[in-house]
Amino acid sequence: MLTADGLTKRYGRFTAIEDISFTLHAGEVLGLVGESGSGKSTTVRCLVGLTKPDAGQVRYAGPKFRRGVQMVFQDPYASLNPRMTVAEIVGEGLLVHGIEKSSAGRRSRVGGLLEQVGLDKSDMDRYPRSFSGGQRQRIAIARAIAVEPKVLICDEPVSALDVSVQAQVVNVLRDMKLELGLSILFIAHDLAVVRYLCDRLVVLDGGRIAETGTREQIYANPRAPYTKSLLAAVPVPDPAAERLRRSAR
Ligand SMILES: Nc1ncnc2c1ncn2[C@@H]1O[C@H](COP(=O)(O)OP(=O)(O)OP(=O)(O)O)[C@@H](O)[C@H]1O
Ligand SMILES: [Mg+2]
Repeated sequence: MLTADGLTKRYGRFTAIEDISFTLHAGEVLGLVGESGSGKSTTVRCLVGLTKPDAGQVRYAGPKFRRGVQMVFQDPYASLNPRMTVAEIVGEGLLVHGIEKSSAGRRSRVGGLLEQVGLDKSDMDRYPRSFSGGQRQRIAIARAIAVEPKVLICDEPVSALDVSVQAQVVNVLRDMKLELGLSILFIAHDLAVVRYLCDRLVVLDGGRIAETGTREQIYANPRAPYTKSLLAAVPVPDPAAERLRRSAR
């Protein structure tokens, strides 16, 4: 669905990412992992056109990139306009992309979207300030899926949330993958969350790809020393992973 081909981005003489290539396939969840500063967000910004790479290109297999590729950001307190109601926030894309021109039609669609992410129809007339972090991420997900995208890019969507709430939001994303057949690029530094959600992983180290593989390959047999050290940093037994596993049942 979405391909990064040799993406390189420099800030002055500092190379933030170098020769990053990977493909997000239809219907898969691809994890982009690495420590803070490894270049995850720079890669995402190049992918969605917020930053122009110094080299390389992005290819998208579908039509209408702006509608087809949607994002969920890390900070649910900064990513929702505080002056807009939930109905306006979630319905905006329906209006902008001409999907639902009548306001009654949009309200009805928004109600359905809110229920899809585990919120209530009656939440639509409230403002973001009256929702918790986890609920705000559900609103952000509803906004993203409203325009029926092919690709969802989530840049550390649960890092700012309590661990117990992380599992709920990850479950919503997993449901979206299963119900809508979405391709998801999921950025994280927490390997427990990634393990639960992702089919394949791309591991970044210092702006370069350290390793790429299926979840099974990487967790059972990490090849790059950097991946091994990232995995070693996940405590075992892992309470976060355990909670995710339990909530998944
Ligand atoms: N606008 C910028 N100007 C200068 N340097 C930048 C800029 N944006 C990012 N960088 C640098 O590029 C490197 C990669 O940053 P990036 O935000 O992509 O990392 P990240 O993997 O997303 O980290 P985190 O997990 O903390 O979000 C970092 O060293 C960062 O300081
Ligand atoms: Mg980042």
